[in-house]
Amino acid sequence: MARDLIIVGNWKMYKTSREAAHFIEQLLPKIEGCKARVFLAVPYTSISTAAAAARLAKVEVGAQNMNDARDGAFTGEIAALMLKEAGASFVLLGHSERRRVFGESDTFIHRKVVRALQDDLLPVLCVGETLEEREGGQTEEILKKQIDSALVDLPEEKIGELILAYEPVWAIGTGKIATPEIAQETHAFCRKCLGDLLGKRKAGQIPILYGGSVKPENVGSLVSQKDIDGVLVGGASLDPESFAEIIQQCEGI
Ligand code: PGA
Repeated sequence: MARDLIIVGNWKMYKTSREAAHFIEQLLPKIEGCKARVFLAVPYTSISTAAAAARLAKVEVGAQNMNDARDGAFTGEIAALMLKEAGASFVLLGHSERRRVFGESDTFIHRKVVRALQDDLLPVLCVGETLEEREGGQTEEILKKQIDSALVDLPEEKIGELILAYEPVWAIGTGKIATPEIAQETHAFCRKCLGDLLGKRKAGQIPILYGGSVKPENVGSLVSQKDIDGVLVGGASLDPESFAEIIQQCEGI
């Protein structure tokens, strides 16, 4: 089944809104005519500027996190509807930095997925094992738990509107990367988990992205794998040159 090719940049806590606008201005001419879907997960304060700058291009702008509540007395938090109104069309949920540094639980992430779907923000659910878990032979168990808990009991009509990102924690920001074979094997396992939970047909429609130290030099061998439908890029998405090169490499497959 043909799935969209998707390339997501995750800027983390980098770039002011002025820098965001400048980045997009530099990026757009380099990716003119590209067919892949290009997403940028930017800091909250850059969403409206980035969305305005990207308006006429096919670049979609989104957030890196949100709260699960519709609104309420939650000092410092941000709601899905606020992100949408600012110009976001998608949101990263369950990134390993949120899980590990900010202690987000599987149940909290599940509630966020439900909220994002309810409020029409496309959730990009991130899952991944640590080095210790991989070396201890627990990768499949961990991924299954993260996927099952986040996606259980979703409203049937919304299930198709979802992206999964597999990001081995040991590959994020480390320069280490899963071999294409290991990445493919793990993506196939993730798709099997989606199939067990949501049915084979739906599982076949959900794009699964690879993330962790993706660079122009290694992206080609990853996206040429059967179950790898694109990439989630951190560090290399901060420079318009390298991000554009990643997009061009993917398009060439
Ligand atoms: P990296 O980050 O590309 O810098 O490894 C990926 C991510 O955290 O999404």
